[in-house]
Amino acid sequence: MATIIVDNKCYTVDERQNLLAACLGHGLNVPYFCWHPAMGSVGACRQCAVKQFKDDRDQSGRLVMSCMTPATNGTRISIDDPEAKAFRASVIEWLMVNHPHDCPVCDEGGECHLQDMTVMTGHVYRRYHFPKRTHRNQSLGPFIRHEMNRCIQCFRCVRFYRDYAGGRDLNVFGAHDALYFGREQDGTLENEFSGNLVEVCPTGVFTDKTFFHHYTRKWDLQSAQSICPHCSIGCNTTPGERSGILRRITNRFNSQVNGYFLCDRGRFGYEYVNSDKRIKRALVRPERDRAKPAQPAGVPQVLEVAGERLRHARGIVGIGSPRASLEANVALRSLVGPQQFVLGIDEHERQLLSTILNVLRTGPVPSASIHDAEQSDAVIVLGADLLNDAPRLALALLQSIRQQPMERVDELKIPQWDEAAVRNAVQNRRGPLFLAGYQRSWFHAYATDSYFAAPDDIARLGFAVAGTIGHGAPSVPDLSCEVRELAQRIAEALTHAKRPLIIAGTASGSQATIEAAANIAWALHQQGKQPRLSFVLPECNSAGLALLGGGSLNDAFDSISQGQADTVIVLENDLYRRAEQAKVDTFLDTAQTVIVLDSLEHRTAAHADVLLPAATGPESDGTLVSQECRAQRFYQVFVPDGDVKASWRWLSDLADATTQETDAVSGVATWRNFDDAVSATAAAAPELARIGEVAPSASFRLLGQKVPRQSERYSGRTSLISHLTVHEPTPPVDPDSPLGFTMEGYRGPLPSPLISQFWAPGWNSIQAVNTYQDEVGGPLRDEMPGVRLIEPVATKAPCWFTAIPRAFQPTSHQWLLLPQSAVFGSDELSSRSPAITERISQPFLSLHPSDGARLSLEDRSTIDLVLQGTPYRLAVHLEPSTPVGTAGLPLVPEVSGVRVPVWVDLFEAIRTEGTRRVA
Ligand code: SF4
Ligand code: SF4
Ligand code: FES
Repeated sequence: MATIIVDNKCYTVDERQNLLAACLGHGLNVPYFCWHPAMGSVGACRQCAVKQFKDDRDQSGRLVMSCMTPATNGTRISIDDPEAKAFRASVIEWLMVNHPHDCPVCDEGGECHLQDMTVMTGHVYRRYHFPKRTHRNQSLGPFIRHEMNRCIQCFRCVRFYRDYAGGRDLNVFGAHDALYFGREQDGTLENEFSGNLVEVCPTGVFTDKTFFHHYTRKWDLQSAQSICPHCSIGCNTTPGERSGILRRITNRFNSQVNGYFLCDRGRFGYEYVNSDKRIKRALVRPERDRAKPAQPAGVPQVLEVAGERLRHARGIVGIGSPRASLEANVALRSLVGPQQFVLGIDEHERQLLSTILNVLRTGPVPSASIHDAEQSDAVIVLGADLLNDAPRLALALLQSIRQQPMERVDELKIPQWDEAAVRNAVQNRRGPLFLAGYQRSWFHAYATDSYFAAPDDIARLGFAVAGTIGHGAPSVPDLSCEVRELAQRIAEALTHAKRPLIIAGTASGSQATIEAAANIAWALHQQGKQPRLSFVLPECNSAGLALLGGGSLNDAFDSISQGQADTVIVLENDLYRRAEQAKVDTFLDTAQTVIVLDSLEHRTAAHADVLLPAATGPESDGTLVSQECRAQRFYQVFVPDGDVKASWRWLSDLADATTQETDAVSGVATWRNFDDAVSATAAAAPELARIGEVAPSASFRLLGQKVPRQSERYSGRTSLISHLTVHEPTPPVDPDSPLGFTMEGYRGPLPSPLISQFWAPGWNSIQAVNTYQDEVGGPLRDEMPGVRLIEPVATKAPCWFTAIPRAFQPTSHQWLLLPQSAVFGSDELSSRSPAITERISQPFLSLHPSDGARLSLEDRSTIDLVLQGTPYRLAVHLEPSTPVGTAGLPLVPEVSGVRVPVWVDLFEAIRTEGTRRVA
């Protein structure tokens, strides 16, 4: 630590910081633009000037940029020095010369860092009377609006987009005072993290286009902590609602998970909540006539019918869901009994998840947080396409490749925040990143080595790496020289690293890949290293569901087909995405009663005899467990209209309706608020025991008050409903959380999960988060970043996996059809959001060119083929990275019913329809 003197007062600071971060950390207001806690300093804007003095006798001092000056012991500065203040005022004056001053019509207005800094700097009068320089704006696709005239040339956008997120299609053009930040020509921003520009840009150049379509000012949004439901990473978000419409998603800082950034699926995939395909009314099918559609009925009547059918059921199967909260799954399990509860995933996926949990439960290697991934200095990814499966993890790896070169930076005594100097020292050097998969993306440009192969061969590479590192680890004898040398290189890189990371995914369906990843981690641990493991899971609560335990969909199908049960309750799950259509048809047709709880219409919901409208994430409270096995709470943001309720509450009502007057009420029927749901969930499995610690309970109060979801400036509470009444209605009561649906309540320091929006006096933009951290860029003050449910155990000797698969052999007629994830399209919920829909690619079949030649298919031709009995029309992509003998099928909505991986006779499948056209 160091002591610095600011305006004659002493402050203890971390000497590894720059003066700007050190001052902000102590609540001292220094204006800035180009510095960012995650991206460091480049000294571009000159806004953060302070006066530095040599010692206490130095009266004149000199102006320095606080973001470019280290906070060394004894540093003496003044923020309030008149010359420093005048300098900062002049800087903002010239930055504002060409600014359009269009705050009233700017979407950034009210949460604009430029507005805040202008006020902070005291620039209140415009002296420039000449015409302003103007630019033409670009059309940048469905996510981002562009208004270049608002630019203050801070360079944050290109530094984030290009340097931090690996994008290539955004740049700075021009020179001197005529700079242009945009694309070479109009077109969609391609990078999967483009939405962060909205928060990174300190003014209104890049704004959220989806928000624009239903815009409201920041202070009129009702908000609460939430968790992104669109992949297994569990990024923290802040959804904003007004008048029953979810208006936007912004990043919510969590030091261990997403930090300052989200991916575009998470930021722009929220509009499914507002979809006209939402199920809003409880429906019941009159009699048991499947030919007649289910009809809306009052909730009491629907519950009565459902209760009656459940009472008379010969057996009930409850089908859980990896996209429903833990509490909802536990409620279903409690209603139907543990023996009748199945996980709602197919048997193969259940086994993969079970293997992963066993690896984490019984092994000595911990799972990696996203923060850990960023800090890793050598990484191998086996069979996961991170950019599409878990984008935020891919962004973390783009930072991890800087870790090894940073050692040189440390040797040169360059502070890590001095980004320009760091880049000069690092040049093009990158730390080791090995990607083994079967789908190429731009991410591979950052890899030390890329290996494209079928899943079995990827697993063999992993086993070979482990065999090279670990004593006693099984080796792979019959490898080609090329693969053996690659395994050797990977093994060396991992063993020389201080913080190696091994990542594997479930998307390819390969059990062997997961086991190979575990072997590598255990081999490194055996060698005294401190590796971390990261498994990319299919959905947002796959880990939570697997922790609960239970059978698979196959068991549910058997129960109905064998007559052990005649009634099915399906929780937030479209079974047609998980099993072959014919099987699901038979299952649903055979069941006497199908009760479905979900939020969006889908094919399973269309079969429901009783359909109960489930709340989405922002409309309910719940707990999700991320791929790291980190349990995190999401709180209800707003009260939905219609009959919509949280699934756990519907299930509690169903249990109540099923109970006879003579029965003693027990289990889920006794749940009266979310605390009851959490208590029951904590008792549902030993590893869930701590979920009550994830966030404050419903009974939590501060000075006897709840915490408001609305800002102090929330406006129009009466006028919004003035066409109905001039009296302000009583706000809805929230029995489930310590939050209130009002602007009244406790306004002091809060536990982090209860902060509805980051705000501090003078800090209205997202950068207000700095004021909630003890050390800028570090954890929030008293942060509750979720609870890790599984920690490593000490083991004496590694228990190696030994089932090494045989090398993949292409066949003469069959192709192994492999799933290819798509960041826009593979996730069920986000792909129902209009902006995301615009980015979903047409379905295609990816083949190696030699396979294309065998099938006489040309690149970009179109084929009609029949897969698992259903005809599809696909474009052909001849792609050299697709392993010979395999075919890649992107998991976009049009093909979501195809079960992959599966062997397919493409000669037969294509011949079935017999048409081939060149596009
Ligand atoms: S567009 Fe925004 S982030 Fe980029 S240079 Fe201009 S003000 Fe800075
Ligand atoms: S990485 Fe996953 S959890 Fe994070 S924002 Fe993207 S989709 Fe959501
Ligand atoms: S923040 Fe220091 S020069 Fe821009």
